[in-house]
Amino acid sequence: MSDRYIDFANSSLGHRLVAAIGLPSPVRLERWQAGRLRPVDGALLIGGGPLAAKVLAFANKLTEAIFSYGPEPLVAPAWIPGHGPKLKAVVFDASALAHTDQLKQLREFFQPLLKNLDHSAHLVILGRAPQNLSDPFAASAQRALEGFSRSLAKELRNGGTLQLLYVGDGAEDQLEGALRFFLSPKSAYISGQVIRLEACTTQVQDWTRPLAGHKALVTGAARGIGASIAETLARDGAEVILLDVPQAKADLDALAARLGARSIALDICAEDATTQLIEQLPNGIDIVVHNAGITRDKTLANMTPQYWDAVLAVNLNAPQVLTKALLDSGTLHDNGRVVLLASISGIAGNRGQTNYAASKAGLIGLAQAWAPLLGERGISINAVAPGFIETQMTAHIPFALREAGRRMSSLGQGGIPQDVAEAVAWLGQPGSGAVSGQALRVCGQSLLGA
Ligand SMILES: NC(=O)c1ccc[n+]([C@@H]2O[C@H](COP(=O)([O-])OP(=O)(O)OC[C@H]3O[C@@H](n4cnc5c(N)ncnc54)[C@H](O)[C@@H]3O)[C@@H](O)[C@H]2O)c1
Repeated sequence: MSDRYIDFANSSLGHRLVAAIGLPSPVRLERWQAGRLRPVDGALLIGGGPLAAKVLAFANKLTEAIFSYGPEPLVAPAWIPGHGPKLKAVVFDASALAHTDQLKQLREFFQPLLKNLDHSAHLVILGRAPQNLSDPFAASAQRALEGFSRSLAKELRNGGTLQLLYVGDGAEDQLEGALRFFLSPKSAYISGQVIRLEACTTQVQDWTRPLAGHKALVTGAARGIGASIAETLARDGAEVILLDVPQAKADLDALAARLGARSIALDICAEDATTQLIEQLPNGIDIVVHNAGITRDKTLANMTPQYWDAVLAVNLNAPQVLTKALLDSGTLHDNGRVVLLASISGIAGNRGQTNYAASKAGLIGLAQAWAPLLGERGISINAVAPGFIETQMTAHIPFALREAGRRMSSLGQGGIPQDVAEAVAWLGQPGSGAVSGQALRVCGQSLLGA
């Protein structure tokens, strides 16, 4: 469904009117186009502590225009505020900040940049996870990065985004994969997030097809976000297997034909779903995306047992039972990737969605609880929590609620299925074993549950 307000706010009359009466003025976000090679289409600025040099070592694979800024210059041309080019991407390594006094470096580094950011600029701050630091003052300084980055993300204009990456010991060699995602339009609708990277033994071999040689199962793939996930995984080189209910077989088969993929018509809640699924995957899989989901909204006072049971069965029980069966049977290979489609409703709660929010929060808990155990086999498990995404599901929301859902975020608009699909595809990559047990919000920094 198209968002006509964005068209209006970006027309010449609309732009002036919106500014004059102080209405939200969302911009058109830049998205990744198939066939594009460089993650950053413009100037990349790097500065800060020791990890900045690590980023510089591969920065020429991100863009041709690399600049440095700050008191300790790197081996890159210096960027001069007011004279240097507009910035498309910025990386600041704050990992060495160990005391309150040093936090002023954040203000000193970022303030001169803010009026020199290009359209849809992507900013990343690097830090060290506070819980891994023994010095309480250093831990406090690193935790301070969280408040700083979430607030600065809210101040960015013109489609800008900002994330904080806590880089664990030994995770430095996974920075390239993370920055290829967070500095590029693939993360257009993600902002204000805090992500932890840990060491991971597997790496992407070919950045033009990061999922080449990997088999991926996507549930609920006949339409909406699931269809977009299937397309994006196929674009990235994966052999995709699409699953949906038998009633959706026509759409499923049409998409499968277009992607050169295989389809499985199966209700994931069928009594024999696990045996049927394992039988249909004799060569195993490397990635499983539990995307199938339903809503049956009612306030709890009016919630029928049928509504409650249906939502919990599809959204939570099926992903649990199927993942366990895929693991126990060895169908999901070692170094596999599990991605669970949660929702910000599972983080913030939502009126009329006690069943849905319980199921989605349960998925976030499942990722958190299972991650250490699956890590022994090199398997990662994460939740992706979309905010308001323009799909058939959200097109049915009453107008006023729909408008509120779109505008109540730092980016002032809903996301599109591709935004969620890009996050899933990134988490499916071999190097993304660096991320596990986490919930990645794709919500434009929604105010809900923030
Ligand atoms: N659209 C949003 O704004 C939004 C926000 C947050 C989370 N999500 C989540 O993202 C996922 C996809 O959402 P969407 O908007 O594309 O939904 P959608 O309703 O458009 O698509 C869901 C798909 O899942 C399939 N499905 C449902 N029950 C199934 C079953 N028992 N077995 C197999 N397949 C089944 C449906 O047939 C459908 O093709 C869901 O898990 C949803 O909860 C969506």
